[in-house]
Amino acid sequence: MPYLWRSKREIPEGSLGRQTIIRLLAMIHEWGCSMSKFTEVSKIDELKDGIMKAVIAEGREILLARVGDKYYATDNRCPHMKGDLSQGKLEGTVVTCPLHGSQFDISNGQVVRWLKGGLMSKLGSALKMSKALTVYNVKVEDGKVLVEF
Ligand code: FES
Repeated sequence: MPYLWRSKREIPEGSLGRQTIIRLLAMIHEWGCSMSKFTEVSKIDELKDGIMKAVIAEGREILLARVGDKYYATDNRCPHMKGDLSQGKLEGTVVTCPLHGSQFDISNGQVVRWLKGGLMSKLGSALKMSKALTVYNVKVEDGKVLVEF
């Protein structure tokens, strides 16, 4: 496709099919919005306070954690070198990757610390920029933990 419009204003006035393109963009947007859905990933009594676990849902590997009465869902694989975060340490809402010690806040996915320090970490940081975790919306209904995909 030679050109993609980012907004309706970029579609040239008077161009053939302008309204068709606008309608198509609206349909694609609507379709994309309606594609998200909540999927059950756990029962609430399967996850105790301060515990996290990896779950596979909708073809994705998710880190599911409970802190107090709140549930959180993020990517389970560390953005550095795909460490299994569910095998790391959870302190409050901060998870520490078991491989090289990067830390992420699971409430928003933000990097708290990228690698744990030392010469190898400095070298690793220079080679790979820090990257936040993807965070998923979570809700609890009828004793089930549901994640939005
Ligand atoms: S894989 Fe997680 S910090 Fe390296």
